[in-house]
Amino acid sequence: MADYKIGPGYVHGYEVSPKDKNNTKRAYKDLGVTFCGIPMKNPIVAASGTFGNGPEYADYLDLSHEVGAISIKGLTPKGRPGNAGTRVAETPSGMLNCIGLENPGAEAFVETVLPTLASYDVPLFANVSAGTVDEFGYMAETLSVPGIAAIEVNISCPNVKNEGLAFGVDAKVAAQVAAEVRKRTTLPVIMKLSPNVTNIVEIAKAVVDAGADALSLINTLLGMAIDIRTKRPILGNLYGGLSGPAIKPVALRMVHQVARAVDVPIIGMGGIMTGTDAVEFMMAGADIVSVGTATVVDPRAIGRIAEEMHEYCEKEKIEHVSDITDTLQV
Ligand SMILES: Cc1cc2nc3c(=O)[nH]c(=O)nc-3n(C[C@H](O)[C@H](O)[C@H](O)COP(=O)(O)O)c2cc1C
Repeated sequence: MADYKIGPGYVHGYEVSPKDKNNTKRAYKDLGVTFCGIPMKNPIVAASGTFGNGPEYADYLDLSHEVGAISIKGLTPKGRPGNAGTRVAETPSGMLNCIGLENPGAEAFVETVLPTLASYDVPLFANVSAGTVDEFGYMAETLSVPGIAAIEVNISCPNVKNEGLAFGVDAKVAAQVAAEVRKRTTLPVIMKLSPNVTNIVEIAKAVVDAGADALSLINTLLGMAIDIRTKRPILGNLYGGLSGPAIKPVALRMVHQVARAVDVPIIGMGGIMTGTDAVEFMMAGADIVSVGTATVVDPRAIGRIAEEMHEYCEKEKIEHVSDITDTLQV
């Protein structure tokens, strides 16, 4: 390791940017991967919606070295205040949320938030939602700017032209979104699949045929929670998305099914709390993973999980972390 530097300002051979000081004792050079041509320092993406815009976590993690990539909180064409009322509820081994895509809007994000975010040395995936196919195209165009490495398309949001049914539940409509986004950006297009479907493989194949470069799965499972004292739903929006360890077995199953059916890289997610969980997703067929709810419990989760993956590789004498992908023996 000729370029391994030691001394003030360096942590495990990496130069720590002034913003990232106080944060970390670890870096993960040997977990480096390339995803859709994007070099990442480790195979862990901070999931959209649970990592703020990123800098909120800079007191806990060295964003430039401990995080593989950041998927930014879901953006929409116009700014949104999010849902009224209670937005999160704890559940056994998980949580429900109905944040309602609170965000400043795509253009305001590019002008006001992106410059700060882009000062960290970490790839940024713009996570986009919209109400029509054309609006998805607009989002891809607006966010195809320097500093953004890929467009992650959240098709779990309601289609205003189809009675509010989520884009991601209909293979034809999901493919239209993928094709429109593909047409309007040169960045890698990652389609983020909804698990609230009968046949996820059908949706996966449709969006890949329409031009998706990669898939991420899964988004949250629709659920609800009730307060028996008030006899009312706990969430302000009635229903919400279930995430965390409770959904891991479902997510693993879907990643495995999809990985066997398509030939594009996959970001696996859903309840990853430990390095062991992450390894399971990769064995099932994920090329890289994403961590969401774990960071709500432990803001340092991504750094810890990376370290645990590293320990696993060392213990099992796995030369490179990407060698784990698809090694499940059935
Ligand atoms: C509070 C919260 C907000 C979320 N917001 C978004 C979002 O804006 N866009 C999106 O694609 N997924 C969003 N998600 C889904 C996560 O990115 C992830 O797919 C899901 O939570 C499963 O992973 P996990 O169990 O590790 O959290 C959100 C999840 C949570 C818990």
